[in-house]
Amino acid sequence: MKTIAPAHSKILILDFGAQYTQVIARRVRECQVYSEIVRFDISAAEVKKLKPNGIILSGGPASVYDQEAPHVDPEIFSLGIPVLGICYGMQLMAHHLGGQVEFSARREYGAAVLHIMDGSKLFEGLGPQLDIWNSHGDKVTALPAGFHAAARTENSPFAAIENSEGNLFAVQFHPEVAHTPRGREILQNFVYHICHCAMDWTMGSFIEEACERIRCQVGDEKVVLGLSGGVDSSVTAALLRKAIGEQLTCIFVNNGLLRAREEEIVQRVFGENFHVRLKYVDASDRFLALLKGVTDPERKRKLIGKEFINVFQHATEELLEDDRRNDHRKHGGYKFLAQGTLYPDVIESVSIGGNPGQVIKSHHNVGGLPEKMHFELVEPVRQLFKDEVRQLGLQLGLPKEIVHRQPFPGPGLAVRILGEVTPERLSILREADTIVVSEMESSDWYYRVWQSFAVLLPVRSVGVMGDQRTYENTIVLRIVESQDGMTADWVRLPYELLARISARISNEVRGVNRVCYDISSKPPSTIEWE
Ligand code: XMP
Repeated sequence: MKTIAPAHSKILILDFGAQYTQVIARRVRECQVYSEIVRFDISAAEVKKLKPNGIILSGGPASVYDQEAPHVDPEIFSLGIPVLGICYGMQLMAHHLGGQVEFSARREYGAAVLHIMDGSKLFEGLGPQLDIWNSHGDKVTALPAGFHAAARTENSPFAAIENSEGNLFAVQFHPEVAHTPRGREILQNFVYHICHCAMDWTMGSFIEEACERIRCQVGDEKVVLGLSGGVDSSVTAALLRKAIGEQLTCIFVNNGLLRAREEEIVQRVFGENFHVRLKYVDASDRFLALLKGVTDPERKRKLIGKEFINVFQHATEELLEDDRRNDHRKHGGYKFLAQGTLYPDVIESVSIGGNPGQVIKSHHNVGGLPEKMHFELVEPVRQLFKDEVRQLGLQLGLPKEIVHRQPFPGPGLAVRILGEVTPERLSILREADTIVVSEMESSDWYYRVWQSFAVLLPVRSVGVMGDQRTYENTIVLRIVESQDGMTADWVRLPYELLARISARISNEVRGVNRVCYDISSKPPSTIEWE
């Protein structure tokens, strides 16, 4: 994994498989301090090489007594670098330094009140008590030498412990979660006052360094990027444009399954505003011809994915031809492919779900482009979380409409048209979708939800319009809130807004006489209908 320039303050987070490890990393970055997640079994020597200002040991589902329990290299505790153990991290610290950890089959789960002892460095300035949130099984029952209790709860005399001389700190609860309302201040105490980190992780400094790194990697070679109009590829394109100017060419493929005016927006923003060299490929006919008669969801997805690769490959060959004709920079090929891979895709993490210590290799999002295309990858935002990518986009001058847009699936409207995808059905769905988006925007709901879109069912039903009987299509509204798309719930939209969307769709979209609202959560449903 590439690391950022060493001049930065840095907190290293050792991942013991907690579901909250990424949240810890984000909380630290919100303090404007760079944080990096590494595997739990990193050696003390490797840690030293990375020169962190501080180390956080994450929680995890294991018990220190499990045979397969992930353990820390105990040398880490004597490097002189401040360490904060959280939950399982605290038990590890106590276990390795000579304390007692008591096995407990029963979890202590939920809210509690923390009583803080005088003189604690970790809780400095936070007053005598705090609301906190627990989720742990085992607990520390005797302290290692040199430690004292820094805080207690009703159930535990050692809810937080410190060894100020050794710069070792630990908490049994979770300061990183929202249910610990002042957890942010606890982490700030650790990061600023104990680790002496500077607030030097800002998007301004990231842009400068990222541009430098891109130039270093790419030299004077040419880079191609598949621009989808989504946040990640758009921000990556804007960053590369800044770093290497005309060495970047973006390919935007219209697969005929896009939302209304999508191709226009992308061409306007990137072609006209950013002056990115943009190759627009209208392959709608090819995709629609392939999808003719296809109703199986998986088959639709496969056909679309495969065709995208064909079209992209063909487009890069055409680019080379164009370059030869126009003498565009050098005549050489496109050596690099840029992608908007994000940090959650690259973190190597230990598995969760009862299998501690077993390593899951990070899944690498290569956007489905085959290895035989022989590109070297440029992934300039692979250190960033989604919210950081959005900040970066705004700072680079991308409009809010792009930076804060909702996710849109690669196979596009094809997975929102159940049954066969035809030009007529696409046109019905696009019109309905445009109404959903415009009503969500004008009521200020668009940016408050994860996704809001229309789905066209292969179901017709009877209705009445004027004096006429109708027999027309059904539109479903799918409007969900979610943190990361893994789980989701339907949004309790105001009835008036639902009524307005429904009335407008039935009145304005020819071929629709019924609108339903999807009130399923994920799981058991998924967000998209196919
Ligand atoms: P599901 O439907 O699985 O979707 O609950 C979860 C999130 O992923 C998006 N999604 C996709 N994104 N290519 C993408 O880039 C895809 O094939 C794809 N399928 C689903 C979906 O919109 C939701 O945000």
